[in-house]
Amino acid sequence: MRLLLLGGTAFLGRAVAIEAAGRGHEVTCLARGSAPPPDDVTFVRGDRDEPDGLADVRDEWDAVIDVTRQPGQVRRAVAELRTPHWVFVSTANVYAPAPGVRPVETDALVEPLAGDVMGSMEEYGPAKVACEKAVREGMAAAGGSATLARAGLIGGPGDVSGRLGYWPWRFAHPSGPDVIVPDDPDFPVAVIDVRDLAAWLVDAAEQRLDGAFNVTGEVVPLGEVLAAAARAAGARVRARPVDLPTLAELGVNAWMGPRSLPLWIDDPDLRQATALDISRAVASGLRLRPLAETLADTLAWEETRDAPRAAGLTDAEEQEIRARLDSPDTRA
Ligand SMILES: NC(=O)c1ccc[n+]([C@@H]2O[C@H](COP(=O)([O-])OP(=O)(O)OC[C@H]3O[C@@H](n4cnc5c(N)ncnc54)[C@H](OP(=O)(O)O)[C@@H]3O)[C@@H](O)[C@H]2O)c1
Repeated sequence: MRLLLLGGTAFLGRAVAIEAAGRGHEVTCLARGSAPPPDDVTFVRGDRDEPDGLADVRDEWDAVIDVTRQPGQVRRAVAELRTPHWVFVSTANVYAPAPGVRPVETDALVEPLAGDVMGSMEEYGPAKVACEKAVREGMAAAGGSATLARAGLIGGPGDVSGRLGYWPWRFAHPSGPDVIVPDDPDFPVAVIDVRDLAAWLVDAAEQRLDGAFNVTGEVVPLGEVLAAAARAAGARVRARPVDLPTLAELGVNAWMGPRSLPLWIDDPDLRQATALDISRAVASGLRLRPLAETLADTLAWEETRDAPRAAGLTDAEEQEIRARLDSPDTRA
């Protein structure tokens, strides 16, 4: 297959390029060149925000795989490139909020973004809806097909967000006698290994899967994920669950970013938002590796990097929080 990857140099796109090249496909990646391309692919430098950004890939492709968030980039690419099949990487954020419900592909979506450019992450869901629409309509008009892959949380080696990686890393490097965790053991975590998602995206290109597919991991309760993270780390310390009002009082954030306990969402309306119904993708051949393997490989990758962590508590923050929890004032 002659495969064009729009992107292919960052976390997911790189994994897709490696997977496709490993299967013997002829892979071309187009990006601006912020990071080196993977081995065994043809790299074409191009800026999709420039009018002639796709000039060097205006060719006939067996499939195109696209990871952008910008509707204008999608519209131009769908109009300019020739292919019978498009695989667009979308997101769970396309679904209109429906508290307590596991999203399925037929559920209502948020309104599409009106313009060409997503200005901020607030517009992420609407921008992806607009991208999906441009792909679906453009490919239908050209007589082709399109996979809309609505990805949930992605983890695994190379994930600089550290949302999954924080936990095995923290258990491997405790800042004291325990690891602070949210006291929410039943919270439904769903995370897909980037390599499993990449493999399914290449399957989707090969098989020209048509339509929308939720693609994430099986739901595992947070308590089990944390226990598996501790095992992956060979931890000698225990988890110390802290109730949610106390975490809020201590200024601990949920989900991601600084001073956070990642992977978990404190907002009751969003508890199910990433726990997508994946029956359709599973029926199409989605294969998921054991969580223990993802955690072990993610920890190994975390150990190789020394950049400041994007998610979790620093040692100093965890120590400060532990001290406040242990102080008689907080205990009272
Ligand atoms: N992480 C998650 O948990 C999660 C969850 C759900 C869905 N997703 C989706 O999964 C995908 C992740 O993709 P990714 O990991 O490969 O990361 P990404 O950061 O979205 O990758 C962007 C890619 O496009 C290229 N690019 C950006 N601007 C460009 C431009 N103007 N012209 C040409 N190329 C450009 C980048 O390379 P250059 O900078 O060199 O141009 C890079 O290769 C996204 O679609 C995201 O929305 C992620």
